[in-house]
Amino acid sequence: MHKIGRNDACWCGSGIKYKNCHEAFDHKRNIMRRSGAIVPSHKLIKTPKQVEAIRESAKINIAVLNYVAEHIGAGVTTEEIDRWVYEQTTKYHAIPATLNFEGYPKSVCTSINEVVCHGIPSPDIILKDGDIVNVDCSTILNGYYSDSSRMFCIGEVSKEKKRLVNVTEQSLQIGLSQVKPWGLLGDVGQAIHDFAKQNGYSVVREIGGHGVGIEFHEEPWVSFVARRGTGMVMAPGLMFTIEPMINMGTYHIRTDKKDGWTVRTADGKPSAQWEIQVLVTESGYEVIAY
Ligand code: MF3
Ligand code: CO
Repeated sequence: MHKIGRNDACWCGSGIKYKNCHEAFDHKRNIMRRSGAIVPSHKLIKTPKQVEAIRESAKINIAVLNYVAEHIGAGVTTEEIDRWVYEQTTKYHAIPATLNFEGYPKSVCTSINEVVCHGIPSPDIILKDGDIVNVDCSTILNGYYSDSSRMFCIGEVSKEKKRLVNVTEQSLQIGLSQVKPWGLLGDVGQAIHDFAKQNGYSVVREIGGHGVGIEFHEEPWVSFVARRGTGMVMAPGLMFTIEPMINMGTYHIRTDKKDGWTVRTADGKPSAQWEIQVLVTESGYEVIAY
């Protein structure tokens, strides 16, 4: 690899001289790498132009979830939610990222009660009073990816389930408070895990967040049972999701053998998840999609 000259154009494609762009960034990154930290590769660092394109994708993802929020309720089938997501996303000339992703057949994931994630919409699944449901949307616009999910409470929900939904939503703020330039990703994971445990809940171990933007799933993998002081360095320009799955009972999960997708809690107790897409900035973070 050739060493980039200080007066050469920066590797990020900004068109600015390296010395005025990512030189200080690389210096900091090299120091951290030499001290043993896991640092992101250049390709994981989003340029301002890429961030702008990803923000446009995220605007659609947010609008689609807003549409779902306005129309969801008892009596709606998850197939209908899938149709809304497909119609609203394509209306904006974008594509639902899950559609045909590794064989996934639908435009959205709809995960009710004990379903942890990757619930497949179906005309046979009708939302009823007392259900809690996660609607997970992801959008591709001009090749750029956004990904976020929200929980919805259908009608009168028990106070136990409502608390699970609220604690899970609050855990995102707890995680976000740990997103700092040059901090470690494990700090986000442990803060969320500690918060969930304090509230009497468990956190799913095998499934977590991910880098996102240029591809649907990029490095880093984001664990919500990680340990403080470990994991990838959150260099400015890194983008990833915070999407903990928090269970009322055991953290153990099972994947449906028949459909190969639907993940349920092993004990059948409820699970909740909220997902946001976050950019690490020079001064903190920016929430890209929610
Ligand atoms: N939005 C989910 C995620 O956070 C999508 C999982 S892939 C699917 O990664 F095919 F199951 F939808
Ligand atoms: Co995701």
